[in-house]
Amino acid sequence: MPLGRRGGWYECAYAALLERFDRHYAPLVAERKRRLLGELAGTLIEIGAGTGANLPYLKSGVRWFGVEPNPAMRRYVEHKARQLGVNAQLVEGRAERLPLASASADAVISTLVLCGVADQRAVLEEILRVLKPGGRFVFLEHVAAEPGTATRRRQRLIRPVWSLLADGCRPDRETWRAIESTGFAHLEYERFRLPLPIAGPHIAGVAIKDRLG
Ligand SMILES: C[S@@+](CC[C@H](N)C(=O)[O-])C[C@H]1O[C@@H](n2cnc3c(N)ncnc32)[C@H](O)[C@@H]1O
Repeated sequence: MPLGRRGGWYECAYAALLERFDRHYAPLVAERKRRLLGELAGTLIEIGAGTGANLPYLKSGVRWFGVEPNPAMRRYVEHKARQLGVNAQLVEGRAERLPLASASADAVISTLVLCGVADQRAVLEEILRVLKPGGRFVFLEHVAAEPGTATRRRQRLIRPVWSLLADGCRPDRETWRAIESTGFAHLEYERFRLPLPIAGPHIAGVAIKDRLG
């Protein structure tokens, strides 16, 4: 990251809000995150690392690379990594073009990121590229509600304002379809609903890259 780039007011405000939001959100997903992230080992890449909300779930000895476009997240991530003793490196970049070598990661992590990336297809292809054969893509994302439901209608209606306020997030993305069609050898996920307005419907799971690469 170029020295001195700290982010404009929107980026700083968004980082501060995200940090506050996570205090309420974390208890809702802690058990799932422990299951999904707690056993990951080796080199981990986290896209859209935010303020480092997932660092507390990682076991000791992992090498963690966060890829994050918002430079205002850095101070939160560095603070948490220091406190927790995680070997962490944050790279400024976007997940559509990961600044990392092919077949270099044992796992890629994404939580609450695929809802807001500009090009979901490109991001998922990049994830597949950077994973080692047999590597795991671990995700926990809020997604579109079932078609025809009141929540889905509300998600569509509120989308323009929501996107503006929440850094491009689209609450009605059928993210599971994009993951299903990416070409992972194995995919397992669950759907669940959290007690949140608009962003209640979630998916969480693991997709595994073919062992033959
Ligand atoms: C809702 S926050 C989630 C942060 C963190 N993953 C968490 O669970 O708390 C979305 C994050 O994705 C980042 N982001 C947005 N577009 C991105 C992109 N194209 N590539 C990588 N990260 C992106 C944002 O800057 C933000 O930090």
